[in-house]
Amino acid sequence: MPDHLTIIDHPLIQHKLTLMRRKETPSSTFRQLLWETSMLLAYGVTQDLPLVDISIETPLCRSRSPILDGKKLALISILRAGNGLLDGILEVIPSARVGFVGMYRDEETLEPIEYYCKVPAELENRLVIAVDPMLATGNSSVAAIDRLKKEGAQDLRLLCLLAAPEGVARMKEAHPDVPIFTASLDEKLDDRGYIVPGLGDAGDRMFGTQ
Ligand code: URA
Repeated sequence: MPDHLTIIDHPLIQHKLTLMRRKETPSSTFRQLLWETSMLLAYGVTQDLPLVDISIETPLCRSRSPILDGKKLALISILRAGNGLLDGILEVIPSARVGFVGMYRDEETLEPIEYYCKVPAELENRLVIAVDPMLATGNSSVAAIDRLKKEGAQDLRLLCLLAAPEGVARMKEAHPDVPIFTASLDEKLDDRGYIVPGLGDAGDRMFGTQ
């Protein structure tokens, strides 16, 4: 099993992340960068997937060559910002099944409110990767993972773009069995629950809302 927290610190990811953090980066560029970054993050979160050799015939000879073995994948986007990671990951894992858990954060209490849930069948037989760009307080991630476990998921990972130490600690307390993958562990949360230095509200940055 991977460590509880893995920082995927590939130079291309770090470069794109810096561009995304800049406040003057427009939504169209932000979305493009997030799409590119999520393809690279997909490598990190699947790095230890098991392989099995199969027998194939190349134009030259018979050969044994590896393909993915083990459980099928399910990607779960934690709405709405999760969709920004989903599309890029699907580019490189097109056969993954996809589900959605809709969570929004009550801006007063910072508590998560679930408004939608639709997930693929047989979650218990899949490697389930929940995607949400921002692991801030951890409240919505913990609630979404709670929900996915109720739906049968047993082998789960959480993939985010940025994480705050507070969110990582909250996840570790609530779901020590769920490894977290992120491009950066930022400094802290501010008093409104935003990640610092962060990149602002990921949904707003993606969709140009405020
Ligand atoms: N959600 C965001 O989109 N950004 C933050 O900084 C924290 C939570």
